[in-house]
Amino acid sequence: MVSQPQPVVLLRREEIAGAVARLASEISRDYQGKQPLLIGVLKGSFVFMADLMRHLDLPLEIEFIRLSSYGSGKESSGEIKVVQGLKTPVKGRDVLVVEDIVDTGGTICFLLDYLKKKKPASLRLCALTDKSSRRRVPVNIDYLGFAVPDKFIVGYGLDFNEKFRYLPDICYLED
Ligand code: IMP
Ligand code: MG
Repeated sequence: MVSQPQPVVLLRREEIAGAVARLASEISRDYQGKQPLLIGVLKGSFVFMADLMRHLDLPLEIEFIRLSSYGSGKESSGEIKVVQGLKTPVKGRDVLVVEDIVDTGGTICFLLDYLKKKKPASLRLCALTDKSSRRRVPVNIDYLGFAVPDKFIVGYGLDFNEKFRYLPDICYLED
């Protein structure tokens, strides 16, 4: 057997649920009277999106986009492409991007630029976690769950080579 890296709990499910509820109340307050379009970045954000949207007291719609930036492993390959695009028009919509983690910032900068060109009425970012110590491109996170240390994290949708997405807590991998 090849030994697997061991996940160690960083953020317990109860803490995550608390952050999701807090973010949802901020978003519900700010988007009163609007019908926002939430765009989740696949695959990592799908668990967060599912929990967040059920706490939002708004007539929202959801979409997903899939980008490729990571080959495999822990480092971004740098080049980002849209692998699965949007079916819902973005023009004139109040768009809220839902992301699992902002690391170097490359992926989210690419996506925000890509969406801006489609002329939304407004464009904001909600990120569950922020690994700001690794930032290479400045990113403004409008709604943030947690600042996380410079460790590779998994669980609650986040993966390492497609493993560990199913973990209910956010864990880091011991190297
Ligand atoms: P960035 O372009 O470097 O900001 O990378 C963002 C993307 O890389 C995220 O959307 C994740 O899919 C992935 N990523 C970055 N750091 C981690 C991590 O610690 N765990 C799991 N995925 C990560
Ligand atoms: Mg992601």
